[in-house]
Amino acid sequence: MRKILITGGSGFIGSHLTDRLLANGDQVLVIDNYQTGRKDNLTPHPNLKIIEGSIADVKLVNQSFDDFKPEMVVHAAAAYKDPNNWIEDVNTNILGTIHVVEAAKRNEVKRFIYFQTSLCYGLKPLEQPITLKHPLFSGDYPGGSSYAISKTSGEQYIELSGLEFLSFRLANAYGPRNISGPLPTFFQRLTTGKACFVMDTRRDFIYIDDLVAVVLGALDGKGEKGYYHIATGADYSIKELFDATIKSLGISLEKEVEVRPRGEDDVFTILIDPAKTEAHFNWKAKTALEYGVDQAIKYYQKFGIEQTFTHLKKMD
Ligand SMILES: NC(=O)c1ccc[n+]([C@@H]2O[C@H](COP(=O)([O-])OP(=O)(O)OC[C@H]3O[C@@H](n4cnc5c(N)ncnc54)[C@H](O)[C@@H]3O)[C@@H](O)[C@H]2O)c1
Repeated sequence: MRKILITGGSGFIGSHLTDRLLANGDQVLVIDNYQTGRKDNLTPHPNLKIIEGSIADVKLVNQSFDDFKPEMVVHAAAAYKDPNNWIEDVNTNILGTIHVVEAAKRNEVKRFIYFQTSLCYGLKPLEQPITLKHPLFSGDYPGGSSYAISKTSGEQYIELSGLEFLSFRLANAYGPRNISGPLPTFFQRLTTGKACFVMDTRRDFIYIDDLVAVVLGALDGKGEKGYYHIATGADYSIKELFDATIKSLGISLEKEVEVRPRGEDDVFTILIDPAKTEAHFNWKAKTALEYGVDQAIKYYQKFGIEQTFTHLKKMD
């Protein structure tokens, strides 16, 4: 039985991973402060312990590591919900990451998994698809958000630590329990009779099961230390995502949804090249958008959405 500590394990990605590890017979310790995670994302299980608290609390992090003695760490906790709360972003994404990294080093963990935003390449990437050789944002290519800046610092501290880390830079992940991004927003507005618009942009959407498959592989020893992209390698327009949502909900609109031109700082498409991940993990994303959207919608219908978080422009 392996012991795996998951920060942010009550969130979208962390909870799916926790479910799969528990089903595998692993023992999991979750640390989560429920800023964006939900208690009902995880079901009680004899091999699951949840500590409610923040990774910004160094005593709590150290105590959790000392008591549990994890062999591996999945660091999925991140703050992003208030773009103006830079202090919270720094406390969680930088300071919290350092606490987790130092405790992981002291405990000589075998592997350390991180999830990074593809915003680390800046708002104006130099290539599409973006390869792992693309420079991280710099003066000419600003990060554009406190989230991107702090997540990138966190990633750099992880590399600096010398830990056996794998950092997965992600496309837009979606599926059941995902409450940030366009899909839950569409669901909420469509089911409460509010108008929607879509931006004239394209994004790569990676379904949660495809993403989790790579992470499980990494915990089984696949891949080597370093950086990876988890993406399908293909993009969809936001309108296509919207249309799949309508279809799944079984509604027809009187007129087509309004497509708004993107703002100056909006990237037309963000494609990240998954070739290295496909080769090292003998993996390929396989979930069709319509199936994935349908699964997500079923979840929203059953559990409701208390709150959504989005990096998209706010709608009235
Ligand atoms: N979902 C995506 O498309 C995407 C894309 C790029 C990167 N990521 C990264 O993947 C990871 C997981 O994201 P997610 O989509 O599951 O989001 P999420 O919000 O569902 O999960 C993050 C979890 O971290 C918890 N958390 C926040 N601050 C904390 C703190 N100080 N201490 C303990 N727990 C804290 C939240 O309550 C939540 O449960 C994050 O690191 C995120 O930056 C996600």
